[in-house]
Amino acid sequence: MSAQTFAARMTAPKITARKGGDPIVCLTAYDAPTAAILDDYCDLILVGDSVGMVVHGLTTTVGVTLDMMIMHGQAVMRGSKKALVVVDLPFGSYEDSPETAFRSASRVMMETGCQAVKIESGSYAAQTIEYLVERGIPVMSHVGLRPQSMNVLGGFRARGRRQSVADEIVENAIAAAKAGSFAVVVEGTSVEIADKVTAAVDIPTIGIGASAGCDGQILVTPDMLGMFARVPKFVKKFGDMHGLIENSVKDYAAQVKARDFPAEAQTYKFTKD
Ligand code: KIV
Repeated sequence: MSAQTFAARMTAPKITARKGGDPIVCLTAYDAPTAAILDDYCDLILVGDSVGMVVHGLTTTVGVTLDMMIMHGQAVMRGSKKALVVVDLPFGSYEDSPETAFRSASRVMMETGCQAVKIESGSYAAQTIEYLVERGIPVMSHVGLRPQSMNVLGGFRARGRRQSVADEIVENAIAAAKAGSFAVVVEGTSVEIADKVTAAVDIPTIGIGASAGCDGQILVTPDMLGMFARVPKFVKKFGDMHGLIENSVKDYAAQVKARDFPAEAQTYKFTKD
């Protein structure tokens, strides 16, 4: 990576400095061409472990591996030039100790060139965040609905609608901020709790199914593009990717069957030497 390429990118400290300022625009990406489109509009691109579900067809994010995240991280880095690229540490790659987390995070950063990692931050996470940040790895935390814990939580339902859970979410966010996270994703909580988190921490909150009062917003890109028929309540479909692909494929199949494709315009002429 050249010094010029690095200088052109958004940085983690610049994201932190946006606390309470202009809303921070974030989306997920998993491949180079999508990252190239997002790059002009997003401050931060997350290579989320949602890739397991929206690209690889897994039913949860639990089966996503570090190698998968690195491969998708490399693609997104190749496609983007300006946005801060954050790569998720997948389930099993960071929870047991700060040392394990450092080994995983440093591999991700060295092999992809991304500038930060994200971890789902339960009460155990503060020590790990501090350890990573002290050693040069910017960390974005993730509180509220934590999809990697869905087997403990019992599903993907919104969290933070009951007081006991709400307090835990606010406490986790405060601990993650104190430990040095540069931003925190707040997923699947009531508006009230998300607003409480935003007021309680001095780092930007990035909402998903949270509150318009968060310092930024993120969505899973295939969800907001309308790739799937069913989407969670908090997703707004900004496009109809499913319809676009289906209609195009239907049209292609019909043209192949009718021998309308390829037409003369899509074929090469034989020329004598
Ligand atoms: O994996 C992911 O895409 C995420 C976002 C939902 C924030 O963590």
